[in-house]
Amino acid sequence: MSALTPTQDRMRIDARDKVLGRPLFAADIPLRGLLHAMTTPARIAKGRITAIDTMAAAAVPGVVRVFTHEDFADLRVTPATLGGNQPGFQPLTGTEIVFRGQPVALVVAATLEAATEAAELVEVTYEAAPFTATMDEPGAEPQPYETAVEAGDAAAAMASAEVTVDVEYRHPQNHHNPLEMISTTAHVEDGRLIVREGTQNTNALKFGTAGALGLDPQRVDAVSPYIGGGFGQKNVLQLQSVLVSRAAMALGRPVKLVMPRAQLFHTASHRPASRHRIRLGASRAGRISAAIYESDQENARYDHFLRSAHNEAVSRLYGIPNYLGRERLVRVDTNPPGHMRAPHEHPGSYAFESAVDELSYALGMDPLALRLANDAERDAISGKPFTSRTLAACLDRGAALFGWSERRAAPHSMVAEDGSLVGWGVASGAYKGTMCPCVARLRVQADGLTRLSVSGHEMGQGIRSAVGAELMELLPIRADRLEIRLGDTTAIDQHHTAGSWGTGGAVPAVRAVVGRFMAALTELGGPLRPGESVHTRLMALKRPVLEVEIEHLGTSQGPDALERMRRGGVAVVGPEYPDFVSFSWIAHFVEVRVEPTTRRIRVPRVVSVADCGRVMNRRTATSQVAGGVVWGIGAALREAAEIDPRYGFVLNNDLADYVVPVNADIGAITVDLLDIADPMLNASGVRGVGEVAMVGAAAAVANAVYHATGKRIRHLPIRIDDLL
Ligand code: MOS
Repeated sequence: MSALTPTQDRMRIDARDKVLGRPLFAADIPLRGLLHAMTTPARIAKGRITAIDTMAAAAVPGVVRVFTHEDFADLRVTPATLGGNQPGFQPLTGTEIVFRGQPVALVVAATLEAATEAAELVEVTYEAAPFTATMDEPGAEPQPYETAVEAGDAAAAMASAEVTVDVEYRHPQNHHNPLEMISTTAHVEDGRLIVREGTQNTNALKFGTAGALGLDPQRVDAVSPYIGGGFGQKNVLQLQSVLVSRAAMALGRPVKLVMPRAQLFHTASHRPASRHRIRLGASRAGRISAAIYESDQENARYDHFLRSAHNEAVSRLYGIPNYLGRERLVRVDTNPPGHMRAPHEHPGSYAFESAVDELSYALGMDPLALRLANDAERDAISGKPFTSRTLAACLDRGAALFGWSERRAAPHSMVAEDGSLVGWGVASGAYKGTMCPCVARLRVQADGLTRLSVSGHEMGQGIRSAVGAELMELLPIRADRLEIRLGDTTAIDQHHTAGSWGTGGAVPAVRAVVGRFMAALTELGGPLRPGESVHTRLMALKRPVLEVEIEHLGTSQGPDALERMRRGGVAVVGPEYPDFVSFSWIAHFVEVRVEPTTRRIRVPRVVSVADCGRVMNRRTATSQVAGGVVWGIGAALREAAEIDPRYGFVLNNDLADYVVPVNADIGAITVDLLDIADPMLNASGVRGVGEVAMVGAAAAVANAVYHATGKRIRHLPIRIDDLL
């Protein structure tokens, strides 16, 4: 095996195909005899259905069938239904309504137009019940606090600290809105059910669908080779997934449903609203001795999105010896929230890194210097070493690239030539270094073809390019005839791809399968000579094909992890391993300009320096970081779901009113990657980058707004009216 060298800068392995429009998303694949489906959303937020009249809907020309809860009453919710580790909610199995927009009927028709028209004509009579739409309304149910992270004695250290801050930050509900909307297409072929869905989790789709419909999982396949943006919204089965499969089976024809964007705001997962109270205690010299961080996270009443984990990454940002992180869920009548890029780390770092910024002003200390003064050698929470601790290097490199030394300390002290207030902000970020089990099969042919099948999903982040880079670095094969099969249970067993463990899971598995392949090849004819390709060797051996397969586990995982994956579950390890902890790191430096009369906020430039271990593809990793920064700017200055508490309705449920940054809002984003291999974590030296990219970005923007204006806004998004 070669040493862990940084890989070359290569274009995306699928760049040419993508430019030519060749990769098709699930809903774009043509199927003969396809029927179109549409759901009818509930018009109340809570209560029950007392009657459904489907006559008018069924009379629309082209309508094949109108399904109601009576057709789906036998669906079963299994542990795999919502992605393996969560309970699940399956709509259309009864008369109870638990959130506004919940599907109450499914219409299947020959055309999309007929299905849409008929879905609107389904007449539902409800008995409405009182409900609570947000955690700020009466009726919201806070659960007891749970201790999430504890080290030392935070209360005692806080009591004796020389300087303290005690602040509360709020983060609104956000929605992912990937460009590829949520969809399911299902059909039966040769006695097998084939489900196509843009999903990060074909494994859950296969086992969850089989479980819900009472089918043998070995007769169900889930196919998702390309996804047009996942970000966590495509982590689990969608509310429509099983309904569409059942309809296709009942009608004996392929059925497709694309959930309209307006419905996504009510039926798909989202980032829950949250509150964060943070107390920090420090010495006058700027050593942080204590942190107490309490968070509230909005959640559904009847189901839940795990616990909050706001403390997991931020408690590792600095070497704070006395740390108490407590968190609680607050239940309301909403659809369940879910993972959205850096689900806890983004809001957690927004609040925590804002509080650290406030502490720097309380101490009269430069915010960068305060961060550097509190670097950690070991993980203060577990006492274990880090596999790699490079936050200070990210901060130093970023400060140099940004020109931080030119900053004037006082808020409201830097003014541009056009009179704009200039603010410079900094924030740190961390994200867990995780891994998962992964199966890989490598087939090389004498005729020049190479086919790599591996557990993993391509959602646009570039996992094909990452696994392809590892393969081509280790094995002399024809790059132009390399096929990579991902996200497809017909190709190989799958595991959920999320939590930035895609690269950490798949790339070391590719290294391992190449090792097995080389051993097999060497056995057949000695090691490859310099310049000899595998194809030529196979030709010389008169062997048309050589194929090997391996099962690869995450570092420290046992065979039970593979078993769990093969039953449809999720088996992830990290950030705490038996002998160490592992995180990716990032530092963001942001300049904002605030126009003095209108208070319009612009972000002309950002510098972000990340360490994700060995960089598998500089181009895709850089693009991930830039994308994360854009999300951070969106979260800081634009995005929020506006919920009408009287109806439980997201008012701005489209891309015109749910405001995200556009090109004109984004200035220069300079990204640098340290590219330091992390061989302690895995044999390829890789960690994830997709989520750490965003962590701290919103705080850096908010901190820059404070530096520009002297106004500390403790909620997101920060809008013009906050600064007037
Ligand atoms: Mo990601 S939010 O872990 O899919």
